[in-house]
Amino acid sequence: MPTVLITGANRGIGLEFARQYAADGWHVIAVSRTPLAPKDFAQLGYDLTELRYDAMDDASAAALATRLKGRPIDVVILNAGVGGDPDVAPEDLTAADWETTMLTNTFAPLHLAALLEPNLRAGEHKVLAAVSSLAASMELYQVPRQFAYRASKAALNQMLRNLSVDWKDWGCICLPLRPGRVKTRMTEFAGDLTATDSVAGMRQVIARATPAMSGVHYGYDGQIVAW
Ligand SMILES: NC(=O)c1ccc[n+]([C@@H]2O[C@H](COP(=O)([O-])OP(=O)(O)OC[C@H]3O[C@@H](n4cnc5c(N)ncnc54)[C@H](OP(=O)(O)O)[C@@H]3O)[C@@H](O)[C@H]2O)c1
Repeated sequence: MPTVLITGANRGIGLEFARQYAADGWHVIAVSRTPLAPKDFAQLGYDLTELRYDAMDDASAAALATRLKGRPIDVVILNAGVGGDPDVAPEDLTAADWETTMLTNTFAPLHLAALLEPNLRAGEHKVLAAVSSLAASMELYQVPRQFAYRASKAALNQMLRNLSVDWKDWGCICLPLRPGRVKTRMTEFAGDLTATDSVAGMRQVIARATPAMSGVHYGYDGQIVAW
């Protein structure tokens, strides 16, 4: 049975990844800052490992990696993220807001990926996916503001591309994934996609991932997203 680790697995897109992989018989390591609600926990079945992780806390990432030491993981999905306030004008941006967004969306995924490298190496699939965003695209996405969020996701893509070069020798496939605009708490449940459809699409991309796809930003629809 393959194993998948998902961060931010307690709600939204992360919870839906956990549901779909569990339904397909994968062993799910559901990682979250906030515990899963009892009804979701029950729905996922009991062949599940549930662990705490706060992206803003390096010690919690280290403790997670220690807990998982020696355990092969086939697919890691770095999903936890924050949107911040999308409407802040440039003159009102604070270093504190910027720091939270960049630490959560960019540094924490890179740090956790590095800590879980031995687990991924020991896994069979060797896929490192990160939930990115169309907002990362300089070519395709032209909206006002969202400064910190857009910078954080563009930097996340760059990190995944870097890792695709650094980890090519052992066959790791690094995939930044665009989920589309999904009805979750982050979008105040606006959007044109359900988490079910978005995740089904991203799982298909992960399932057909090849080394040639590594370091390329793919959408839930299987299309390449321009940088
Ligand atoms: N929804 C969309 O349309 C959309 C579009 C593009 C990209 N995305 C990306 O998709 C990912 C999932 O978002 P979502 O739409 O499912 O939103 P969501 O419902 O707001 O979920 C966000 C998840 O991230 C977790 N998280 C936030 N800060 C964390 C921290 N410091 N440590 C650990 N976990 C933390 C949250 O945990 P808590 O419950 O503990 O806060 C929650 O599980 C994000 O990376 C987001 O940027 C979403």
